Amino acid sequence: MYEKTLVIVKPDGVQRRMVGTLISRFEKVGLKIHAMRFVQATDEQSKAHYAEHVDKPFYPSLEAYITVGPALVFVLGGTGAIAKVRQLVGDTEPASALPGTIRGDYAHQPLERGSDRFLCNLVHASANTEDAEREVALWFGPDEVLDYAMIDDMYTGL
Ligand code: RTP
Ligand code: MG
Repeated sequence: MYEKTLVIVKPDGVQRRMVGTLISRFEKVGLKIHAMRFVQATDEQSKAHYAEHVDKPFYPSLEAYITVGPALVFVLGGTGAIAKVRQLVGDTEPASALPGTIRGDYAHQPLERGSDRFLCNLVHASANTEDAEREVALWFGPDEVLDYAMIDDMYTGL
């Protein structure tokens, strides 16, 4: 099924000049960009986006991390895109994320979960259909999520 999912290049990805590299990883597998915005997230946006984590002990460090500088927020689409993007992104903890995943390839750091330091892992990706719909609507208005044909769409059905 065709799905749309919300992805963020987090501030560490921007600060490490990895925006182009990371977008390429998603384009290379055939995902389509439907929306994109460069944003300095507010504390309120962090709380809304990470609502499921607001009461957890690590939340203050997560909010500090996600608001420390601008981030690139975008919507990707494709068949089974939600799970595909999560696979590409890899495990939450960079140290255990598999080689070949974004976090496994670029985000290794000697930091245990539960630490009050930032767990920097470059990218956010929606976890499931419900989260994807909620997160896309949180960051973009309906008119900002664009549907259009890719060059390869011309050849489908031949
Ligand atoms: P994300 O939502 O950003 O895509 O990450 P995720 O699903 O892989 O992991 P999740 O459990 O949703 O955690 C959200 C983000 O919070 C930070 N975190 N820090 N210090 C800690 O123990 C801790 N645990 C999570 C990470 O930046 C994680 O991606
Ligand atoms: Mg998550």
